[in-house]
Amino acid sequence: MLELSTVLSNRELAHNIYELTIKVDLSKYQLKPGQFVHIRVSPSTEHVLRRPISIASIDTDHSTLTLVYRVGNGQSGTYKLSTLSKGNSLDILMPLGNGYNLDHLKDEKHILLVGGGIGVPPLYELSKQLNDKGLKTTHVLGFNSKEDVFYEDNFKKLGDTYIATADGTYGESGFVTDVIENLKEDFDKFYACGPIAMLKVLENTLTIPGELSLEERMGCGFGVCYACVCQTKSRGQVKICTEGPVFEKGEVVL
Ligand code: FES
Repeated sequence: MLELSTVLSNRELAHNIYELTIKVDLSKYQLKPGQFVHIRVSPSTEHVLRRPISIASIDTDHSTLTLVYRVGNGQSGTYKLSTLSKGNSLDILMPLGNGYNLDHLKDEKHILLVGGGIGVPPLYELSKQLNDKGLKTTHVLGFNSKEDVFYEDNFKKLGDTYIATADGTYGESGFVTDVIENLKEDFDKFYACGPIAMLKVLENTLTIPGELSLEERMGCGFGVCYACVCQTKSRGQVKICTEGPVFEKGEVVL
């Protein structure tokens, strides 16, 4: 549905990564972690296209959403979005996509959450909801470099949190999979969001059930550009923005 929202804050969290908090009427929605919104970044003709942005945090008590996005170059819609400030209005379509499935959880006790880069934000709301259900969460978050790291403290408040950087400037040197290899604990399920290469390795190495979000392949976010088509093993081709972005482990040909 189309909603009019008001910007409460818009700040840079890390290099070219911004956090936007908006006030919007959430009373008629049951939002799930992993869903996203579709923002019209400007009423001007140059940015009539909307931008799909993942939901990092949902606050139903205060009717606010926190969205985290990566800013492109000076001509991009996300750059335009980064220039907005408190009091500006934004029209958004919401909620879009299918989120992570928490309803199927039964006997699981310990959940592994794995995020890479701009795939990290949806895991924050997911972890909050898992903790609210009494589950233990461990987070493994990967970034390219120290300047790209964000939300470490947020995740630490929810459970054990490990950071990996590809260039070794912060946390463990290497990839999320290097960190996971050295974890001694057992997990009952994993949820992941990040680059396809990361998801592929996780799918091939983790033997527990899991859900993967393929958000990184998103274009228009609304079923019109076909930029997000992926091949599934049993359903042929599907659009990630309308059929996903979250899929069961093993469902998509990565
Ligand atoms: Fe454009 Fe899915 S992102 S059709």
